[in-house]
Amino acid sequence: MPHHPHSRASTAARSHIIELLQDDHRRLKRAYREFQRLDADRDGSLCESIVRRTLQEMRVHAQLEDELIYPLMRPIVSDPERVDEAEVEHEVMTLLIAQLEHANAADDKFSARFAVLCEYLLHHIKEEEGELFPQLKRATLDWESVCDEFTGRREALLAAEARDPLSTMPDAPPTDETGLLLSSHRPAHHPARYPAHESGSITSRKI
Ligand SMILES: [Fe+2]
Repeated sequence: MPHHPHSRASTAARSHIIELLQDDHRRLKRAYREFQRLDADRDGSLCESIVRRTLQEMRVHAQLEDELIYPLMRPIVSDPERVDEAEVEHEVMTLLIAQLEHANAADDKFSARFAVLCEYLLHHIKEEEGELFPQLKRATLDWESVCDEFTGRREALLAAEARDPLSTMPDAPPTDETGLLLSSHRPAHHPARYPAHESGSITSRKI
């Protein structure tokens, strides 16, 4: 039976997706606050475990947004350039995440890199919650199907991270010799590292 886009179930499915994304945002912000209270020299292993956990959550969250949420938003939002900006922000964050992956608390600039990543993330969250999510909340879509795909993909990514951290890590965007991000890059999906997924399929379900 086809899902009805205006049904109570559809509204509940939409709320569920947005709540999951906002829960991620809250958890990430809390982890950053926790990190700020610590001293990387004195509390090295605790700092490292916060960073590891946060990077893992960021990877899953950004991957879900890149694969499912942004393609869905692009035709809906009044200003699709905001979606482009959010994608570029993810690219920059991927770069910082890659630098932190194998770092430990004793490394030069460990705290600075994580702090910059989190400050960047705070800005990104503000844009999403302030500008993009409100428009998503007004969109009429087959939210039940979107929610099924979103939650299924989320489970798969979380399971992949639990089995093998870094498995959901997109290749770091290429940089030129000065370390500047090459602007033409879009994160490439790496078929060998990703659980099977038909990307973009939910965009066709827009009604
Ligand atoms: Fe987000």
